[in-house]
Amino acid sequence: MIDNQKIKDNLAKSLTAQTEELNMFLPYLLQDIWELGSPCADIAQLLKDRLPGEAKILDLACGKGAAAVKIAKELGLNVKGIDIMPQFIDYAKKKAVENNVGDLCAFEVNDINTSVNTHKGYNCVILDWAGGVLGNPVQSVPKLKQTIVTGGLIIIGDAYLNPSSDLNDIKFKNDYISLSSWKTLFTLEGLKPVETKTDIKFADNFALIKTRAAEILVKHPQKKELLDSYIQNIQNKQADLEQNITGVLFLLQKT
Ligand SMILES: C[S@@+](CC[C@H](N)C(=O)[O-])C[C@H]1O[C@@H](n2cnc3c(N)ncnc32)[C@H](O)[C@@H]1O
Repeated sequence: MIDNQKIKDNLAKSLTAQTEELNMFLPYLLQDIWELGSPCADIAQLLKDRLPGEAKILDLACGKGAAAVKIAKELGLNVKGIDIMPQFIDYAKKKAVENNVGDLCAFEVNDINTSVNTHKGYNCVILDWAGGVLGNPVQSVPKLKQTIVTGGLIIIGDAYLNPSSDLNDIKFKNDYISLSSWKTLFTLEGLKPVETKTDIKFADNFALIKTRAAEILVKHPQKKELLDSYIQNIQNKQADLEQNITGVLFLLQKT
């Protein structure tokens, strides 16, 4: 049980829920989905041939471990995944064993705000679609940097505002910065851009989530408004991604 209000609010927000009242339903709503952020194949592809066999990777807010398991399986590297949702971590452990990479993957339930202070010396850290959990980009990037060695890699999966979009049309406008702001931040933090990937194809999970929401409603009819607004939030996020923001994976090197 999480008893810190800010952590609960951030957890909800990280999964596109408008209120922490939804947190108890999120594992059920998202049960059919393994990848909760960027496609894990894209993340593994970014790291291919960039790290030595003994490299250690830290995946912060790893969700159900899709990226961690993919990296272990395809690249044979060690990955530690941390997420605050116990149900997600249980699933990640199960998937690692199922994919015969239980020995390469370690998963832990924790608040990554704590983990960034206790985990050091990694060769690569990943923060994929969990921006707000460590604060805004200016606050998050230094926290990521402190977990890796000099020369180590950072992968950030997030989005930037499209230059042509009208701010009034953007549903989640406060959550995103421009591409030039990201680039300025990386320069200020001494991070060398290695690769930037924008041709990302996010899976359309809307129908799966909607079906699960309908099942919850049968048992909890009084939650209709709450679940309807969650479904609306998911649609708004999709609309932003189609029109106003661009999903991006940044691969950076700490100099
Ligand atoms: C959109 S998901 C991304 C998950 C994963 N990176 C992926 O791509 O599949 C955001 C994740 O952040 C996790 N999260 C939210 N707050 C957290 C916190 N304080 N500490 C650790 N994980 C947190 C959520 O449980 C969720 O799994």
